[in-house]
Amino acid sequence: MTQCFVKIPDDFSGYPIDQFCIPKHYEQDLESVIIPKGFVLDRTERIARDIFESLDQSKPTAALCVLKGGYQFFNDLLHYLRQLNANSNKSCQLSIDFIRLKSYTDDQSTGNVKVIGGDDLSHLSGKNVLVVEDIIDTGRTMTKLLAILNQYNPHSIKVASLLVKRTKLSCGYRPDYIGFEIPDKFLIGYALDFNEYFRDLNHICVINEEGKAKYGSNSN
Ligand code: HPA
Ligand code: MG
Repeated sequence: MTQCFVKIPDDFSGYPIDQFCIPKHYEQDLESVIIPKGFVLDRTERIARDIFESLDQSKPTAALCVLKGGYQFFNDLLHYLRQLNANSNKSCQLSIDFIRLKSYTDDQSTGNVKVIGGDDLSHLSGKNVLVVEDIIDTGRTMTKLLAILNQYNPHSIKVASLLVKRTKLSCGYRPDYIGFEIPDKFLIGYALDFNEYFRDLNHICVINEEGKAKYGSNSN
């Protein structure tokens, strides 16, 4: 399969925040809107179609949401997959699972990945697993998660990530389905966070220095 994604160029400066509905409490903290929510949804609908077309119907599929950042993409992707399932000649049994990992403080990866919650993964055995993630940055978190999941002997594992960052720190990992390839900037909104803030923002935005200072772990 040739990988298809929307490429956001490095020199794309985004859209002014005063052209969008932004919560008042974040107005000072954002540089620009980089991917409006409507664009995210349109792209998600197409990813759902691509996933559905290559689904192996002979085994059930376990959709695994990587919390917390993946929950919006997961919710919207599953909405489109359910629609396809209900309206096509083929269909595939889908189960829903959650896993919670921790690897970031501020905008820095701590380098170690811990499973800090979620479902019992033993029933992934023999199933097709679809991992749903918000963002691949260095790729180390996903590489470690895949090693963990493989211990449960799934029939197959595919990964869908809404965003993939172009960064020199990439370990080379590429997911099976990509929404957008983005510049090396810290993005927030649509469930992506900075120290747990900005998940309540609809659009994917670039945080500014004021936002980093206000919500950084060294401030109160
Ligand atoms: N934003 C939010 N979370 C992240 C990012 C990002 O740019 N990169 C890795 N985790
Ligand atoms: Mg994530």
